[in-house]
Amino acid sequence: MNLILLGAPGAGKGTQAEKICEKYKIPAVSTGNIIREALKNGTDMGLKAKSYIDAGTLVPDDVVIGIIKERLAEEDCQKGFILDGFPRTIPQAEALDNMGIVIDKVIDIEVEDDTIAKRLSGRRVCLNCGATYHLEYKKPEKDGICDICQNELVQRKDDKAETVLDRLNVYHEQTEPLKGYYEKKKKLVVVYGQEKVEDTTNLVFKALED
Ligand code: AP5
Repeated sequence: MNLILLGAPGAGKGTQAEKICEKYKIPAVSTGNIIREALKNGTDMGLKAKSYIDAGTLVPDDVVIGIIKERLAEEDCQKGFILDGFPRTIPQAEALDNMGIVIDKVIDIEVEDDTIAKRLSGRRVCLNCGATYHLEYKKPEKDGICDICQNELVQRKDDKAETVLDRLNVYHEQTEPLKGYYEKKKKLVVVYGQEKVEDTTNLVFKALED
């Protein structure tokens, strides 16, 4: 099964990608995570992407298309994958089509902008293992400490309130048109993000089984 998760920043794509990955045993491929890892390791690509990520704007298409091409050619993606955060522009979606990859479903997780702002301002992440928490909705056992690797939790730079607004604008202008792109191809399924993660997960699983 080849899937795309669409949705605004903070709609819960990463959270749901993890759940699908656990149930269907296919890898979740997050361009955001790949870029952040490159940044942490100080690679050329990471350094190039830094200013875009910090500002909440999109990394140039050719960079992310190259990342995805390499990642999807890896062994673990041959039986299916979940794309989280790619494509984010029409040229990226066209590039995916040109790679000859057939997408089975595009799940669009819809969440109001106000809710997004609240979710992202409360998100805390572990820079060591990548685990994600929320100050209110998904608290770690010990305040500010990762349950998995005991490292300190931090706020992503692009989760600061002013950058979240920029990311939402970028989403509405550049990514939202993908809904029409995949609707025309009859691949789009809309799921309304719920207050509780497990309620959204149930809707996502139902959408995958229909
Ligand atoms: P990326 O990492 O992809 O960020 P994003 O799309 O902005 O997505 P997020 O990780 O912020 O949100 P999410 O939808 O995964 O939400 P999550 O599940 O964590 O990209 C970052 C940057 O990289 C971009 O700005 C860009 O610069 C660059 N980039 C990446 N891909 C690119 C591309 N293709 N082209 C160009 N540039 C690219 O949930 C958010 C929070 O809410 C969490 O704290 C979670 O615990 C909580 N939460 C989730 N669901 C619920 C719920 N149902 N109820 C309550 N809380 C919930």
